[in-house]
Amino acid sequence: MLDRDHDTEIMDTIPAELFDSASGPQTGTVYLGIDLGTSRSAVATSNGVREVVGSVVGWPIDAVAARLVGKSVVFGDEALENRLSCDVIRPLADGNLSYPDLTGEERERSQHAAVKLLEEIVRLARVRKDQLVYAVIGAPAEATGINKQAILDRAREAGIDAAMVVSEPFSVAYAIDALDDAIVVDIGAGTIDICRLHGTLPEVEDQVTISKAGDFVDQQLADLIAKRHPEAQFTINMIKKAKERFSGVVDSDERAIVTFPVNGKPTELDVTDEMRQAVGLLVPEILEGVQRLVSSFDPEFQHRIRGRVYIGGGGSQIFGLRRALEEGMESIGGGNVFLVDEPVYAGANGGLKLAREMPASYWDSLRTAGE
Ligand SMILES: Nc1ncnc2c1ncn2[C@@H]1O[C@H](COP(=O)(O)OP(=O)(O)OP(=O)(O)O)[C@@H](O)[C@H]1O
Ligand SMILES: [Mg+2]
Repeated sequence: MLDRDHDTEIMDTIPAELFDSASGPQTGTVYLGIDLGTSRSAVATSNGVREVVGSVVGWPIDAVAARLVGKSVVFGDEALENRLSCDVIRPLADGNLSYPDLTGEERERSQHAAVKLLEEIVRLARVRKDQLVYAVIGAPAEATGINKQAILDRAREAGIDAAMVVSEPFSVAYAIDALDDAIVVDIGAGTIDICRLHGTLPEVEDQVTISKAGDFVDQQLADLIAKRHPEAQFTINMIKKAKERFSGVVDSDERAIVTFPVNGKPTELDVTDEMRQAVGLLVPEILEGVQRLVSSFDPEFQHRIRGRVYIGGGGSQIFGLRRALEEGMESIGGGNVFLVDEPVYAGANGGLKLAREMPASYWDSLRTAGE
């Protein structure tokens, strides 16, 4: 966060032209593109930093736990690894930072966790104390007005000087220059966000959110494995890891062999069929969403958007998904499906690109409006 008093002081005592030289005082603005995801968040900065952190915040439960964990708050994998000693909160669990379903202390705790997570993102971005932080934050496509405001409020509390909220698939589209005649499908943990791009900022009717995504696949996979191997012991986290490792079996001869305890004894289980079945569940969901956006588009241009469907987000890494979708699109008139480069950072990259392209005066007005 900017130390404004200090900054003004410097500006008063040093000739202005020095600020333009590369060797001038270490002051200025850093732009951040932030992809705030249900399961993980990514940041890309104008200083060239790119980081990713699990969207999980953990606080040690008591003094013993605090000693063991060695920190007052932990994030991402560190929070998950220490989850037996920590109070673990996923501030983006529903993709909605206004927490409409929570009240009182629970709501406050979630809000606090969201601020902590954003602070951690700013820390990972290696922002210097004397820099202004301007961020474009990607949020779920159907984020309501209230939710957007909640994100802006949390961002400010976390020391971000000015922020803009855009929909996640829009920032992906911005990253890959697919702002016209394209469909972007962002396959995340909590939601699949599908967005139609036609040269303007997408409106509500250009976006479809499907609430079945990676987490849904994990749950289905867990149910299928529990049915087939009732004796196996596992957590949803173990299932998720297995899915990420073996999602390729959908389209290959490889077998998915996991090692889960049975009565405490590590045991190898073949879960290939369950894996194929669970991972395949997303295909009809995505096709239906794409179909909705195509069929409600200007009939003259439908073929164009059908011809440029991009998939991104962690879930796009399911091997064979691109082909399965392209095959599925045959039944709705055909189309082309492409994988975005860098599915993990595409949203953050797009946010950063947008942040840099906004006029400085716009950012300044956002900052002063929030003061
Ligand atoms: N190799 C892989 N194969 C299949 N799924 C994967 C793979 N890698 C990551 N995933 C899944 O992708 C999902 C996370 O994707 P991503 O990080 O884009 O989500 P998010 O942005 O946190 O969520 P959301 O967009 O819903 O807010 C998880 O369900 C994760 O298990
Ligand atoms: Mg996402």
